[in-house]
Amino acid sequence: MIDIDFLIKDIKELVNPANNKVVRGNELNSIRIYRKVWIGCTGDRITFIGNKEDFEGQCKVTEKTKIIDGSEFVAFPGFVDPHTHLPFAGTRQDEFRLKLQGVSYQEIAKNGGGIKGSVRRTREIEFNDLLAQSERRVNQILLSGTTTMEAKSGYGLDKDNELKQLEVIRTLNSISPMDIVPTFLGAHEIPEEYSGRNMEYLKFLIEQVAPQVREKGLAEFADIFCEEGYFSYDEADYYLSALKEMGFKLKIHSDEFVSNNAALLAVEKEAVSAEHLIAMTDEEINKLAASNTTAVFLPGVSFFLKMDKYAPARKFIEQNGILALGTDFNPGSSMVSSQLFILYLAIFKMGLTIEEAINTVTINSAYGINRNEDVGSVDIGKKMDLVLMDIPDYSYIAYHLGINPVHTVIKSGEIVVEDRRISF
Ligand code: NIG
Ligand code: FE
Repeated sequence: MIDIDFLIKDIKELVNPANNKVVRGNELNSIRIYRKVWIGCTGDRITFIGNKEDFEGQCKVTEKTKIIDGSEFVAFPGFVDPHTHLPFAGTRQDEFRLKLQGVSYQEIAKNGGGIKGSVRRTREIEFNDLLAQSERRVNQILLSGTTTMEAKSGYGLDKDNELKQLEVIRTLNSISPMDIVPTFLGAHEIPEEYSGRNMEYLKFLIEQVAPQVREKGLAEFADIFCEEGYFSYDEADYYLSALKEMGFKLKIHSDEFVSNNAALLAVEKEAVSAEHLIAMTDEEINKLAASNTTAVFLPGVSFFLKMDKYAPARKFIEQNGILALGTDFNPGSSMVSSQLFILYLAIFKMGLTIEEAINTVTINSAYGINRNEDVGSVDIGKKMDLVLMDIPDYSYIAYHLGINPVHTVIKSGEIVVEDRRISF
């Protein structure tokens, strides 16, 4: 008999990605649906999924077992967000207004705004204040149904402040139920002190910052903003080779606005993921789709910057690539922290079906941060991470927009959101 610590009985509908590893091509259009299902966990892991009869035959409950009734709910695996820029200090509504008047992201950056503005604020802020701001944001993210997220540094751009951001991520990971996967993005922008000296800055990161990040175990991934006006293909190649050698797994901000073949670099370097990809060329689509590198599309950026162009989702799926979706939550190009909102954009703006969108914000986004063994689907042995929505059926999530359908969130077998409120 399986000892059950937490049980949700009689769930109206459980929506699960097509499989428990990674989903590509045509398979993206299918999902696994179960009705009147019972799900139980032991500790933080799922140990039972099935019907009432099987549950009663195989499982044991005691007076300590927490039991909730799922009959009013549609359940999804906790959403996984594979790309965020948390933690950042302050916000940038001022330049958002300029953007609404038609000033471009690149022009704002040239005039000292953009990433540089957030760098200034992130350098000034005390650790505890940055932690408090970030914790509030993580709670908002939990309320939207995300239970695992990636988080990057990249607003420090010097040793102390990059480490400060990464330490904030580590502390957040330990005090919040959210699982947070840390990425070192020291190569997000060229800081004022190194203006025009990109290679020297990268050398500084390689020699003086990255070794400390490694030593302190502060980041699993390294990332670089490979884009016109930031770091070139060759600079990214040089930098990522060195960081890979040190043991970092790789991600690349690739082809966000202009293609410079960064997606090809991601394939060559066997990066875990290439991200953004709005401007990728046909050659990049074909080669990336044929690889095991995940393409993380971030449609919040196209929407937030009012661009007409979105990353080429249909073409990429046709080529059988691994597609995931993320928010890119950041104060400049995507002040969007909800994967549900991203799911709407994928359906309305990139032509994904509801089923494709569900696979890409769950199992494939988990794959894009190497967490598909633990999360991203509701399967035996994975973490008990579930979102319960009070909606009639799963297709309703993409149909009734602007409501918050997330009623209850369970993370690692504990209720963390109850009746739309944080409850831990
Ligand atoms: O992913 N691309 C680079 N970085 C962010 C923007 C960061 C910012 O504007 O603060 C992005 O779009
Ligand atoms: Fe980003």
